[in-house]
Amino acid sequence: MSSTRTTVTFRAMGKARIGIVMGSASDWPVMEACAATLDEFGIVTDRRVLSAHRTPDAAMEWGRNAADSGLQVIIAAAGGAAHLAGVMAAVTPLPVLGVPMESASLKGMDSLLSMVQMPAGIPVATFAIGKPGAVNAALFAVALLALSDKRLAEALAEYRRAQTLKVMNTILQ
Ligand code: RP5
Repeated sequence: MSSTRTTVTFRAMGKARIGIVMGSASDWPVMEACAATLDEFGIVTDRRVLSAHRTPDAAMEWGRNAADSGLQVIIAAAGGAAHLAGVMAAVTPLPVLGVPMESASLKGMDSLLSMVQMPAGIPVATFAIGKPGAVNAALFAVALLALSDKRLAEALAEYRRAQTLKVMNTILQ
């Protein structure tokens, strides 16, 4: 296989614009792909391990302060009885993007259903289970910021062009 992917990389500068919060450090191997995608766009992130169940007070305090601290989007990852994204959405006006983690016993179906079945009035935009969801949540967050950031809009368009080229130039041997 050959690739012509040109990575769009910007140096991260300034204050964090996107918060990435996960229920456990065990989620990081997957959520690293989310952070790496945002790094590619030069977006500074505030990365936290906070649990809706194990550290409920600290999780809610961080969520409540997120907008005032300059964050514009929250990406929340959790597995199993995955309530973290919903709890974040309950305490912040910011858009909350949820990434269900694959769980050992139910392969992430538990996480997905816990996260996606929010009651009307408190939305969580829920993505695919695992790494595809982690990457897409990052790209969706970039698209949200790109609505009012021309540089990001151009970078996102370039990312897509590079992705298309990569597929078009794939040679199977
Ligand atoms: C959730 O429980 C976490 O988000 C994680 O996906 C899952 C398992 O956590 P650990 O037992 O590995 O810490 O709260």
